[in-house]
Amino acid sequence: MTDEIVIRAENLVKRYNGFTAVKGIDFVVRARECVGFLGPNGAGKTTTVRMIYCLTPISEGELSVLGLDVRRHPRAIKAQLGVVPQEDTLDPELTVKENLLLYASYFDLQPRVARQRAEELMEFTDLRDKAQTSVERLSGGMKRRLAIARALINNPRLLIMDEPTTGLDPEARRLIWEKLRQLKEKGITVLLTTHYMEEAAYLCDRVLVMNEGRILAEGPPEELVRRQIGREVIELAPFPDHWPGEFLTGIDGQIKGYQLVGETLFLYTDRGHDVWPRLQNKPFRHKMLRPATLEDVFLKLAGRGLTR
Ligand SMILES: Nc1ncnc2c1ncn2[C@@H]1O[C@H](COP(=O)(O)OP(=O)(O)O)[C@@H](O)[C@H]1O
Ligand SMILES: [Mg+2]
Repeated sequence: MTDEIVIRAENLVKRYNGFTAVKGIDFVVRARECVGFLGPNGAGKTTTVRMIYCLTPISEGELSVLGLDVRRHPRAIKAQLGVVPQEDTLDPELTVKENLLLYASYFDLQPRVARQRAEELMEFTDLRDKAQTSVERLSGGMKRRLAIARALINNPRLLIMDEPTTGLDPEARRLIWEKLRQLKEKGITVLLTTHYMEEAAYLCDRVLVMNEGRILAEGPPEELVRRQIGREVIELAPFPDHWPGEFLTGIDGQIKGYQLVGETLFLYTDRGHDVWPRLQNKPFRHKMLRPATLEDVFLKLAGRGLTR
């Protein structure tokens, strides 16, 4: 079955004391999909994934993972998941291999099977020559690859990763992306959170755009961008604070929408190359025509950027 549902959330709510971090969200994740929660800090991404991997109890609503209710079957769910948490939880004093074997021992794997899995996973994450190196001597990228290897030790059906590449340099990030693409090709279902739109666009079949505890939009990245924005965006600044109606005369048929954020006007269009020449005589300090991105989707729906 290709459309088997692996995670189903209905009106999922999380309250911390008086504060509601997740405000009644609905979503599904299907087998073999890579789904990304994209949103800025504080959006509720970590809270959501922690409810999925049964670390944080849900406050209201329904949540099932691999067909099991998180309230009733947390142990059975956890046994079938791989989790890469946002914070590093590796043991810094143990070696790479020891970290893997220690983690394997939590899953009742036979020692022979555990050793074999550890070898395979060190190979897969390019850490074989670091097997005897203690974790505190690894780079940030290596630690993250080890965290991924560790999450895979029990051969999980679902891999959950909270900000898998935050804080890594571009090269280390690319290497992780490559590994995740390979995992996806093997058919594992992946749920990740990120505030990097390139990451969501590159890795995910489907993106859930999240802000302030709500899902603002969802869909395949390109489709989401086309539907919400169009092909291109023209940025103009500084733009006066009054409505751009008059300014749009003559080009309004080619503009799908616009958004004024601070003093920058964002024009959404499918016909950038028709509109662009008509703006050449306008006196803007900043003028740019570029492809539309998920950042624009977020900006339109939340009224601000993902990382600002
Ligand atoms: N244990 C907690 N107690 C109280 N508030 C929390 C707790 N964990 C997270 N929050 C709050 O919930 C909101 C969502 O946080 P989080 O899920 O970590 O978002 P994200 O991962 O998208 O950055 C934030 O406002 C955060 O301060
Ligand atoms: Mg987080």
